[in-house]
Amino acid sequence: MYNRRIFMLGATATAAALGLAACGGEGAGSGGPDTDAAPSEQTVGVAMPTQTYERWVADGNNIKKGLEDKGFKVDMQYAEDDIPTQQQQIDQMVNSGVSVLLIASIDGASLSSQLDAAAAANIPVIAYDRLLTDNENVDFYVTFDNYKVGVNQANALMFGLGLLDEEFKPAGDAPKGPLNVELFAGSLDDNNAHLFWQGAIDTLQPYFDDGTLVVLSKQIDIEQAATQRWEQETAQKRMENLLTTHYNGGEELAGVLSPADPLSRGIINALQNAGLGPTIEEGLPVVTGQDAEIASIKLIADGVQSSTIFKDTRTLADQAILSAESILKGEEPEANDTETYDNGVKVVPSYLLPIQMVLESNYQEIMVDSGYYTPEQVESGQL
Ligand code: GAL
Repeated sequence: MYNRRIFMLGATATAAALGLAACGGEGAGSGGPDTDAAPSEQTVGVAMPTQTYERWVADGNNIKKGLEDKGFKVDMQYAEDDIPTQQQQIDQMVNSGVSVLLIASIDGASLSSQLDAAAAANIPVIAYDRLLTDNENVDFYVTFDNYKVGVNQANALMFGLGLLDEEFKPAGDAPKGPLNVELFAGSLDDNNAHLFWQGAIDTLQPYFDDGTLVVLSKQIDIEQAATQRWEQETAQKRMENLLTTHYNGGEELAGVLSPADPLSRGIINALQNAGLGPTIEEGLPVVTGQDAEIASIKLIADGVQSSTIFKDTRTLADQAILSAESILKGEEPEANDTETYDNGVKVVPSYLLPIQMVLESNYQEIMVDSGYYTPEQVESGQL
């Protein structure tokens, strides 16, 4: 599929719109890679999900700058978590004849007709961070090790609860339990949410099985724990409901598995509003996170949020650009995982980047000494 498209150069966008792409043909404004063209003659279409999450803003800025530094033109659009808007934006990119598409989807299964149109116009597609599912017209995937994110979130939770030591081995003086925890998941239409969840549950399961950890609400299915569109307020409301329904008789909540920093902050708001904390030392349950957002790094520095996962989006942008360049040159992008990411129709060759767990003990080294955030940003909790 991938090679076929590379060799089908020059089908015009108009022809594609008329369903004639398979006939080939040369023409101005044609979509897809032209291996002879200079970067300045190629436009990369970049579809981003939302600007409400800090990370997607950073991703977009890094991709745009990285591509422009290499001389490419960039058509980047944010869809503010509205699926029809994202569909329309990608339709427009395809019609305008971009050379390659980088797509961070809102709902990974909602872009099939766009992916089909891209294929018909010879435009290769790279899924960015989130897998595009249920369609064969996905050429490559750049992301982080999403299962490992979940494993690390579970380990961070257990470290915070004193069950694991600083090397994430069973702690010698671990509490016997039962310790009550509640579980949150991301948006069900985001494939990543399932991998985060799976990694976390696989890691926590032995502790559920031996009774060390208990989910008092019994909400242990991803459907029950999910947070539609990854919205902070939704997580905050669910935490409020869990507290009033299951923790109103003196039951103690020890920890909360949260898959992303904005959700963590919503959860922490709910816990603090219920009179817990305000810090972990003062009795706030241990709450995990992801994305190393500046507001959450401040909370970690202040002993409020227990952990997050740092995914350096600069490296993801760089890897996406390298992959796009390879595709544009008619070469295979470098993959380091050709097994994990089955999108329901095919296994999409992928490049997975490493992640880092951030705790109060190492945020200074990972987030500040590295130059990612300044001490002033951590102090204020703002960029
Ligand atoms: C996931 C992504 C996370 C987080 C979340 C909410 O797909 O991998 O880093 O940002 O979406 O935006």
